[in-house]
Amino acid sequence: MKHFVTMKDQSEADILQLVKKADYISKHGTVPFQSPFFAANLFFEPSTRTKMSFVVAERKLGIEPLDFAADSSSVTKGESIYDTARTFESIGANVIVLRHQQENIASQLADSISIPVINAGDGTGEHPTQSLLDLVTIYQEFQQFKGVKVVIAGDIKHSRVARSNAYALSTLGAEVYLTGMEQWQDNTLPYPYVPIDEATEIADVFMLLRIQHERHQDHVSFQQESYLEQYGLTLAREAKMKHDAIIMHPAPVNRGVEIDTHLVECGRSRIFKQMQNGVATRMAVIETLLNQGGTFHEKTINKRQ
Ligand code: CP
Repeated sequence: MKHFVTMKDQSEADILQLVKKADYISKHGTVPFQSPFFAANLFFEPSTRTKMSFVVAERKLGIEPLDFAADSSSVTKGESIYDTARTFESIGANVIVLRHQQENIASQLADSISIPVINAGDGTGEHPTQSLLDLVTIYQEFQQFKGVKVVIAGDIKHSRVARSNAYALSTLGAEVYLTGMEQWQDNTLPYPYVPIDEATEIADVFMLLRIQHERHQDHVSFQQESYLEQYGLTLAREAKMKHDAIIMHPAPVNRGVEIDTHLVECGRSRIFKQMQNGVATRMAVIETLLNQGGTFHEKTINKRQ
């Protein structure tokens, strides 16, 4: 693996290897790199958990994060993403973490620079590290993916998380279902849409999405209160979920819009567990990319036995 920009082309074996490695690191930690590595965290869109969990992951691996703020960088003078990335490569960055509003930009950059690129979210395209941490969370719960019924609910059309998760989950043999408002359905995804009341009853994993207002070009009018009643996870729907079903959400959560606020931290919720898994997951991805010799993980495990 040279870059990590999409879940679409990952094999089942490669995904499982990363999931198990992240799960291992979440439980046992790992040994930091001894070489002086640097990571360029290029965030052109707002982020709290992705950006900060990359910083924590990098520091835990002994990597120095190079801070970058687009609005005080030479991007404001017209410098391109490519030239910005080449600049970081030239001054010694070993890996680039890129969040950007333009779909496919991480893949394009990966084709043109020599250091690894990690896609930290590209417009409505993909968010592969979010997907991977979601998979780790599901794996910790069910110890498998085959036959697990995962419902992805909400603004599917504008969600990069929905896309990455749908690709990865179907590769792993999970059953993927979608539910949401008709105007925000994505008919390019080959998974069945089910009504919300049916969706909550069949789900082993009920994965909610925020309404991505910032990506809406069509102004679909909706009432916040009626959205929750019509399309969201209410207390009444949660009461009908399977007894061991879990609730997930990539966050940020809009409490009271897609989910009743009392369910965000209820017994079924794994929302903050997902964020916790984000650190180990990003460590697993970075370590895999920077340790192409392939012995680091084994050395880590042996050292701790
Ligand atoms: N889930 C996620 O990507 O959150 P942030 O936008 O805060 O990084």
